[in-house]
Amino acid sequence: MPVVTFAVEGRDNCVAIGGSAYVYARTEHGSFVLSANCPHRGGPLNLAEFEPGRSRLVCPWHDRAASVTKAIKAGVPAVRHGDRVTAVLPDHDGAGYTLEHRPMSGALARC
Ligand code: FES
Repeated sequence: MPVVTFAVEGRDNCVAIGGSAYVYARTEHGSFVLSANCPHRGGPLNLAEFEPGRSRLVCPWHDRAASVTKAIKAGVPAVRHGDRVTAVLPDHDGAGYTLEHRPMSGALARC
């Protein structure tokens, strides 16, 4: 399992590995490493917003919602140090990774 350190925000805030991508989400319900690929058809979950009044993120492509609390509980192990986060990502058959930038929705970049 690759251990990767990347930026909490801005340049290099996303790890792309084996066709998947991960970002650090900072929400009013907690912070966690989020797969930026929606499990439905790969939509950009880094642009997801919350359902009004709920703790469910809504994918911008087809409006499917997913619980943030479940994502945090089942999430990628990670620790934040200042403006960097180190995460133990799922193995992607030994694929290498790159760091890149992904824009974040307002719901995922709160603190
Ligand atoms: S790609 Fe996210 S709901 Fe379809």
